[in-house]
Amino acid sequence: MFSEAPFRGHMRSIPLVCIGITFCAVFCAGVLNAESAPPSATPQKPASTSATNAKTPIEPADNSYCYVCHRNYEKEKLTVIHTPAGIGCEKCHGVSERHSSDEDGITPPELMYPAVKINPFCIECHAVDPLRNRPEHQAALALLREKDPAKILTAGGVTKRLCTDCHGDHRLKVRTRRWDKATGKLLSDDGVRMMETGKPATLK
Ligand code: HEC
Ligand code: HEC
Ligand code: HEC
Ligand code: HEC
Repeated sequence: MFSEAPFRGHMRSIPLVCIGITFCAVFCAGVLNAESAPPSATPQKPASTSATNAKTPIEPADNSYCYVCHRNYEKEKLTVIHTPAGIGCEKCHGVSERHSSDEDGITPPELMYPAVKINPFCIECHAVDPLRNRPEHQAALALLREKDPAKILTAGGVTKRLCTDCHGDHRLKVRTRRWDKATGKLLSDDGVRMMETGKPATLK
């Protein structure tokens, strides 16, 4: 019942903490830090999940910080349905201060989602029971019981079983760099620096 107000206060304090972490990471860990997994590479359970029990009005999420480079997400459906509920990029991907201030674009965001993590993440907020009513949801719900990542995209010839297969258009069509979504390790980089226009993440 009272979950919303303290949570929002907490969100405001994150950037300061994050700057602290950033400086510490830069000065204490140096180059080592780039090779090791980011502290929060796996999704964390959101502090507040229900919009319906909040008494205070919900402020829409402010994604402007991320739109500086990810302008192409401004009208994307997964973003659009969550923004009015106060759930923005930072809620799902972390504040990602180091990622956002790296003009070379090789520092990963704090939270990424390998396929195996996507459905469990969505149902942290969306109760399973109401989803059962739709035939479209059966494969996605069955997947929650599947532990073998190799089967995630292939089992039974079903192609749409990740929540993001059907909801939104959230995947980048072209990648200029790739990280291991579980560890944050940089796997490939086209070498073209970020602030140039016309690159996927900077589409205007
Ligand atoms: C300075 C530019 C810049 C800013 C600001 C920025 N990003 Fe990124 N982001 C990038 C680049 C570059 C990529 C790689 C895109 C590609 O492959 O072409 C990326 C990729 C990502 C990815 C994909 C990770 C994956 O799973 O592979 C996520 C998630 C992401 N950014 C989240 C965010 C969030 C959240 C913010 C705001 C807090 C943000 N970004 C702000 C440049 C930026
Ligand atoms: C409700 C949670 C949620 C919100 C809000 C959200 N994302 Fe994501 N994002 C995800 C999930 C889950 C994935 C993994 C999707 C997949 O691989 O199918 C993802 C993947 C991505 C990717 C990588 C896609 C790829 O091709 O690998 C980028 C880039 C990204 N998000 C950027 C953003 C930006 C920028 C915002 C805000 C404008 C944002 N996201 C808002 C949950 C979210
Ligand atoms: C942090 C909590 C949270 C997470 C994580 C989250 N959602 Fe949501 N989602 C909400 C809230 C709150 C709303 C708006 C209120 C509502 O309609 O339930 C919403 C709305 C939606 C809607 C529209 C619901 C409707 O009735 O039309 C869809 C579809 C949806 N989310 C899908 C997803 C998917 C897919 C994921 C995983 C990528 C996801 N959500 C992750 C909280 C979350
Ligand atoms: C095969 C496609 C498909 C997959 C996979 C899928 N959905 Fe849906 N979902 C739909 C359709 C179609 C609707 C009804 C139209 C709409 O709201 O987009 C829907 C509706 C919803 C709604 C609105 C409430 C409702 O039942 O009308 C939520 C919330 C939702 N889905 C969440 C999820 C989550 C979370 C996952 C992953 C566990 C998921 N969906 C996987 C197709 C899918």
